[in-house]
Amino acid sequence: MQVGHVTGYISRQAPVQNCAKGGALGNAVEGILTLDTRISRRAALIGAGAVAAWMTSPARAILRTAGRVQVPAFVDDLIRRMTLEEKAGQLSLMASAWGGGAALSLNPASGGPNFQQQVAEARQGQLTGVFNGNGATMARILQTAAVKESRLKIPLIFAADIIHGHRTIFPVPLAEVASFEPELARRTAAAAAFEAAGAGIDWTFSPMVDVARDQRWGRGVEGGGEDVLLGRLFAAARVQGFQGSDLKSTEHLLACIKHFAAYGAAESGLDYNVVDISEQHLREVYLQPYKAGFDAGALSAMASFNEINGVPATGNRWLQTDLLRGEWGFEGFVVSDYTGDEEMIAAGFAKDGRDAARLAFLAGVDMSMQSGLYRQHLPGLVRSGEVPQEQLDASVRRVLALKAMLGLFDDPFRRIDVKRESARSLLPATRALAREAGRKSIVLLKNDGDLLPLPRSGKKIALIGPFAQGAHDLVGPWVVYGDDAKAIDLATGLRGALRDRASLVVAQGSGVEEPIAGGIEQAVAAARQADVVILAIGEGAGMSGEAQSRTEIVVPAPQQRLAEAVAATGKPIVVVLKHGRALALEGAVANAQAILATWFLGTETGNAIADVLFGAYNPSGRLPASFPRRSGQEPYYYAHKATGRPNPPGNLEPYKAHFRDTPNSALYPFGHGLTYGRIEYSRFVQSGPSLRTNGTIELSVTVTNRGARAAEEVVQLYTHERVASLTQPVRELKAFRKLALQPGQSEVVRFTLRAADLSFYGRDARPRTEPGTIDVWIAPSAESGGVHGTFDLIA
Ligand code: NOJ
Repeated sequence: MQVGHVTGYISRQAPVQNCAKGGALGNAVEGILTLDTRISRRAALIGAGAVAAWMTSPARAILRTAGRVQVPAFVDDLIRRMTLEEKAGQLSLMASAWGGGAALSLNPASGGPNFQQQVAEARQGQLTGVFNGNGATMARILQTAAVKESRLKIPLIFAADIIHGHRTIFPVPLAEVASFEPELARRTAAAAAFEAAGAGIDWTFSPMVDVARDQRWGRGVEGGGEDVLLGRLFAAARVQGFQGSDLKSTEHLLACIKHFAAYGAAESGLDYNVVDISEQHLREVYLQPYKAGFDAGALSAMASFNEINGVPATGNRWLQTDLLRGEWGFEGFVVSDYTGDEEMIAAGFAKDGRDAARLAFLAGVDMSMQSGLYRQHLPGLVRSGEVPQEQLDASVRRVLALKAMLGLFDDPFRRIDVKRESARSLLPATRALAREAGRKSIVLLKNDGDLLPLPRSGKKIALIGPFAQGAHDLVGPWVVYGDDAKAIDLATGLRGALRDRASLVVAQGSGVEEPIAGGIEQAVAAARQADVVILAIGEGAGMSGEAQSRTEIVVPAPQQRLAEAVAATGKPIVVVLKHGRALALEGAVANAQAILATWFLGTETGNAIADVLFGAYNPSGRLPASFPRRSGQEPYYYAHKATGRPNPPGNLEPYKAHFRDTPNSALYPFGHGLTYGRIEYSRFVQSGPSLRTNGTIELSVTVTNRGARAAEEVVQLYTHERVASLTQPVRELKAFRKLALQPGQSEVVRFTLRAADLSFYGRDARPRTEPGTIDVWIAPSAESGGVHGTFDLIA
């Protein structure tokens, strides 16, 4: 028996309550370290490169110093010399005004100064920094005004939304989670930091770690998907990638955990909408990835737009101070989201701008983004005694300490270098990483009759759809500096892989949301001449991201009509989906022989998809979000509760929990993804009948590739406690392993669970374990059988 390449993760529930600083850090890290240690022995045996790399990577070093802010002595000296206006300036961040900067194209228009006025603000000490500016040239002008011409010469900080790459664009964050490889996300975050830090950027508004369980919400595309364990692991990995082990490094950036908190729980998936949630559920699900990000060392946070139980997050003292600083020991600073403080007026929480500034600041939001309310009102609020001077000084101290940790007082121009900016941009190695990340993000949803992989020659291919070719919709949402024109479209990728380029014909067929005249006729003609059709359809880049909630999460109607017409030719169809969320697939799209979920893959889109279509890479992605059968099932997520009347699989039984017309299950569940191999799960073995509170239990499965091609499998371990004082989700992911298997190869995959892995939050919002019977599945997805066992959790 050959030994496969194994990477894996196991859950260690982050204690999201009542943990001292050291304890919190220790515990959250332990999950990764425990697992690293375990894997590294194996890695040493089999030379598993990726795991070995993680063990020696600088990312590990940060785990030792995570979350600590060092305040140099000169900071307090500086604070003593600052006027109230200068202090308020250090807490005021504005969109860059340079040349109609990108900031304003990604945010609602809000009147601001022109660039010359902004330079004057820097000179007058009214500005702590700017965001989404335009590179080193701009940064040099502003920084010069701040450090050479302002009274106290305090350096500016330059921030940006580096969400999935700077110039080289990686897959959207949600897509990358499909890799089930947090280490990949660490590497792409590090590569993004390398490019961005070369362009004068010190601070990224990333990672976004909001758990997203309602696919109508457009911003799930920026985060870690629906699952808590994946959310935690990817949050931590991204923080480590962005920040590295030393914030002074000119190759790294300060990370910002956003949006704190529960932004992804917006009612009905409507962006900015309210969140009404129990503290128990908040801690159990939504708070977990933020906590993991802070434990991994993130030293800034962004307050979310939503309210929680009637109190806007931006004005929520319990959240931003009691929990974040008090209970979790966060030492960094909190910034509001874009005009988030001012928006408390429209929400009905603040009377006016002055009241909004007061409420946000007293809640614990150190810095105001874009509204200008802090610099307008904080000095007066301190003079009137409504805001304590000490609290103002504490916020300024945090901001100045972070600027010092970023090395900005040592050399304010350390990341500002025009030559370095271009020398680091779109390097071949970075593009190669984008291609690797791209192909690992692709999920093979369906492959009837082994239609895929396609041969490189001997078949005529019709590539049809609005995403077939052209420099559009490639880099995807939330890109400030990336460029579709530098990205590889699908047609180019396919031609690069085909032996006979002439065997490919391309027809657009339809626009994204509008039909095109004669489009369907042309597409049908192209399909008729071909042996196989590749249908490149789905959502445009602007259909997900901020403010892009949808009521119907389907392929837009003109494209659905195109798919129906092409299907009527009877030609075999491979659907290549473009999307920023899980979709409800219907009709000819759902019935196609093969379906690939390809999200937005960024700069190397066409090459990555071609690698999978022609089998240069065997698909290994697994869904980070469930694809429902119908939009109306949303919010649909695998870790739902059973209800008192669960519908058994199969027929829709009367008086059971399902919709009139649809089983309440996924079309493609969380964790699902096929390979070009044929994977079989067998021989469930457990080390004993029970697990004691302070003990462990070992569970194993034999995974075999019975196919003719190599494959990578993501082996997933789910548990469910049958009876507890609070009902438990039908399944929860507790651990997973990704392994490569050659044809005929078998691997025994072992997991070790502790009782703590089975803890949940009780009615008192504290973690607890309760004795009872635990179901366990080791399976290829959240809704597949795999192998099953039970054990007793005993006190
Ligand atoms: C608003 C978004 O919610 C946030 O994610 C982003 O970082 C800021 N705008 C700045 O662009």
